[in-house]
Amino acid sequence: MSDAPKSAPARPQPPTRILSGIQPTGRFHWGNYFGAIRQYIELQSVGESYYFIADLHALTTVREPDRLRGLVRDAALDLVALGLDPERAALFVQSDVPEVTELTWLLMTVTPMGLLERCHAYKDKKSRGMTADAGLFTYPVLMSADILAYDATIVPVGEDQVQHIEVCRDLAGTFNHLFGEVFTLPKPRLVESGARVPGTDGQKMSKSYDNTIDVFEDPGAQKKKIMRITTDSRPVEMPKEPEGDHLFELFSLLSPAAERDRMAELYRRGGFGYGDVKKALVAAAADFFADARRRRAELAADPGAIDAILARGAERARTKAGDVLSRAKRACGLSRLPGKLTGSPGPAGGKA
Ligand code: TRP
Repeated sequence: MSDAPKSAPARPQPPTRILSGIQPTGRFHWGNYFGAIRQYIELQSVGESYYFIADLHALTTVREPDRLRGLVRDAALDLVALGLDPERAALFVQSDVPEVTELTWLLMTVTPMGLLERCHAYKDKKSRGMTADAGLFTYPVLMSADILAYDATIVPVGEDQVQHIEVCRDLAGTFNHLFGEVFTLPKPRLVESGARVPGTDGQKMSKSYDNTIDVFEDPGAQKKKIMRITTDSRPVEMPKEPEGDHLFELFSLLSPAAERDRMAELYRRGGFGYGDVKKALVAAAADFFADARRRRAELAADPGAIDAILARGAERARTKAGDVLSRAKRACGLSRLPGKLTGSPGPAGGKA
């Protein structure tokens, strides 16, 4: 903790609030898990946390209602199975908190078109000659509302979302400048996977390369995929360097350190084929996710369980978002209550 600069009066430090949104656009694969979700979930122990399934954002790409419903439910089950603790963190569905969409409009009125035109999701689509709808164009404003509605201080994101957090800070700053210290400015927390997660072809694991292995894939199908992972054709008996080998990288992610070292030794010694490594990888994956699979099966078997978790999460989220929204409405003159900011406007405010 650094001391506040001597010249500036120390502002009260905001309590740490973690928030992250996860788009339900497909089943989670190992790349999603090791690259992001695992780190998001670990943060639940750092402070008050909010995790939501971004179905409103997904609506800009998923246009099949039943599929969207299924994806949202699966994402919720997956997150809890993977360790998100609904007692500790609020887990909810984005569209269950209408306060956020209302807040989006308030922010929209202070959003320069040029700022959105520079955002990459829209720019990329346009540069490929595709037409974008206003939902995609204003996507970063909804995302800003997601963050500001909960006075979030830390937003764990991947590299591709950092620009959106900058937009959020920009809009919050403008609004605060016009109407008083309403919003808490968040900071991105860049989540680095540490390790590369290779896909079945050795490239980075990504849905767009069609090389993913899903976390909760049926074990038989998962085994088949693993056994078909691309390898080079060096003979079995040839000693191999484990570092940089994608099978070894995957095995390392899924195994305790001692197992990893043992495998590295087998590679270097030779006489050990890729088929053996693949079998070991199948077993390591089964072990690594065994508890999560069990929890998921239990939770899925109880029809009301996940709905109850999401309902409770939405209730907590709405309480917080409702406070922030009414603060914002009072400040800008939308409420007939005088605009004087009272209560706890968050860290940047503090003045009653
Ligand atoms: N746009 C994010 C993504 O695609 C998902 C998201 C929506 C989000 N709202 C958010 C992430 C708010 C962090 C905070 O990954």
